[in-house]
Amino acid sequence: MATKLSVNINKIATLRNSRGGNNPDVVQAAVNCQLFGADGITVHPRPDERHIRYSDVREISKIITTEFNIEGNPKEDKFVNLVLEVKPAQVTLVPDDPGQLTSNHGWDTIKERVYLRNIIEIFKKEGIRVSIFVDPAEKIVAGAGDTGTDRVELYTEDYARHYLQSKENAIAPYLKAAATATLYGLGINAGHDLDMDNLAYFKQSIPALLEVSIGHAIIADALYYGLENVIQLYKRKL
Ligand code: PXP
Repeated sequence: MATKLSVNINKIATLRNSRGGNNPDVVQAAVNCQLFGADGITVHPRPDERHIRYSDVREISKIITTEFNIEGNPKEDKFVNLVLEVKPAQVTLVPDDPGQLTSNHGWDTIKERVYLRNIIEIFKKEGIRVSIFVDPAEKIVAGAGDTGTDRVELYTEDYARHYLQSKENAIAPYLKAAATATLYGLGINAGHDLDMDNLAYFKQSIPALLEVSIGHAIIADALYYGLENVIQLYKRKL
């Protein structure tokens, strides 16, 4: 089974914002990623709009022909309202703090079970598939099984950090987490720090992997190889 590649285009917005104009054009970049073979586009609007802006999300939603995935913290009403307005194929709920550089932890699905159940129901009622960002811990994934979520997104920073020392050790907690997800009938997504080197082994080890969302490494590699080549190279890994 092929795993879908959703390209996170936040970094393109960061580059645009650094000069204040519209170069590079984020909406055009989304169109091009699709043309180059991406199976989806991911955006992660944050309250300070330091990369993707809420207006970008609205614009992209009009042109998207692949899967649109919006990530963010549902504890901000502005985020929830945006997702309900745009109705993407998938919303990925991430418990990040407003000023956080990048996501650095998953949900505590046990402590936050009631909260998650309620918020997930709101999105699902609107026909939006829900994924929740989780650390690769069996009890956390089992807890996700009790929230009504369709999928979990396994937070892969730890995998990426340990991959070069020992890929077998690096993948071990993810194998257990993935088995638990399957046991509870949850689909499996993954993301954070996946790259050209570590992606193929992750996919081979977890064949049930439905989707990866990758931003930083794809945009960094595109400086050397070009965006079209990079998207194709990553797709081949999957
Ligand atoms: N998944 C989530 C929940 C994220 O917050 C991010 C980063 O915005 C990613 C995936 C993609 O991570 P990376 O940019 O390291 O590929």
